[in-house]
Amino acid sequence: MAKNIDWSSLGFGYIKTDWRYVANYKDGQWDEGALTEDGTITMSECAGVLQYAQTCFEGLKAYTTKDGKIVCFRPDLNAERMIDSCERLIMPTFPKERFIEAVKRVVEANKEWVPPYGSGASLYLRPFMFGYDSVIGVKPASEYQFRIFATPVGPYFKGGVKPLTVRISDYDRAAPRGTGHVKAGLNYAMSLYAITDAHEKGFDENIYPDSATRTYIEETGGANIIFVTKDGTVVTPKSDTILPSITRRSLMYVAEHVLGMKVEQRKVRVDELSDFVECGLCGTAAVISPVGKIVDHGKEIVYGMEDMGPVIKKLYHTLRGIQMGEIEAPEGWIETICE
Ligand code: PLP
Ligand code: COI
Repeated sequence: MAKNIDWSSLGFGYIKTDWRYVANYKDGQWDEGALTEDGTITMSECAGVLQYAQTCFEGLKAYTTKDGKIVCFRPDLNAERMIDSCERLIMPTFPKERFIEAVKRVVEANKEWVPPYGSGASLYLRPFMFGYDSVIGVKPASEYQFRIFATPVGPYFKGGVKPLTVRISDYDRAAPRGTGHVKAGLNYAMSLYAITDAHEKGFDENIYPDSATRTYIEETGGANIIFVTKDGTVVTPKSDTILPSITRRSLMYVAEHVLGMKVEQRKVRVDELSDFVECGLCGTAAVISPVGKIVDHGKEIVYGMEDMGPVIKKLYHTLRGIQMGEIEAPEGWIETICE
């Protein structure tokens, strides 16, 4: 029986669900891991995560499909990206097969929390890992905890799919040769000042230009960016310091191989923003959120505040259709959890 929740009015917040997965790493190995009802963590005041922010995370969603299955979207890519994050932060990696198995166990145990088909909501899964034992000199911890919790969510941005107003940020989120390409908690700590300031000034998000030259577009605090040119080409920025979004990679594939569009991954200059006709933010939380306006230090680039542009709309419906089991998915994209 599904929980008695008004699914369609959910925003993007934390609601405690019944079960989460925990595995501990000690003496060079992971224990077998287990589900627990305990959503709290007790640890040393000197834990690596608390002192030196040694933590990384992932985000993926489970959906109820049209024919009543519970599925999740490309968890193998989240497992792989988490391995990359762990390696960059000198943390032990959690094996891919075990990651996928743990995702399935958490969703299955919380299946009453998976929003129904058509509600517009989904069950967001948050795998994360952190340094658990005490470190006072700057060095990696030797004990770690890996967890996955689940929380039902609606749209990431207030107002659902209403076009967003974003600004070009004066702050940086990722340094050249830093950690922008992995999902380190520290990247998000870096962005908190900028997002608070953006919200206070009436913007929904920050677009970060590259930190070295401030010439090229990178991404926002929580999503990659796609643009559409006048001739209908889908363009996404290429950079070593942006997070390789699974949504963006999937959309570019769908645009090219399912919808037959022209796609380009290339450097995108800040001064060519006004050459595009549509813009969208893409990510697990953001799905594809249309950008209506970009403000670059007083200069406004307007794509349209009324509605999603036609190309972004088509990509959105195709991706949602694949996730909801309405459109056949490319091989290996959908992991069925409950039939
Ligand atoms: N970029 C950043 C900085 C993010 O936090 C996210 C969210 O995960 C994304 C992009 C989108 O990635 P994905 O589509 O894999 O969720
Ligand atoms: C996600 O989309 O899963 C993220 O982690 C982004 C975050 C800003 C909520």
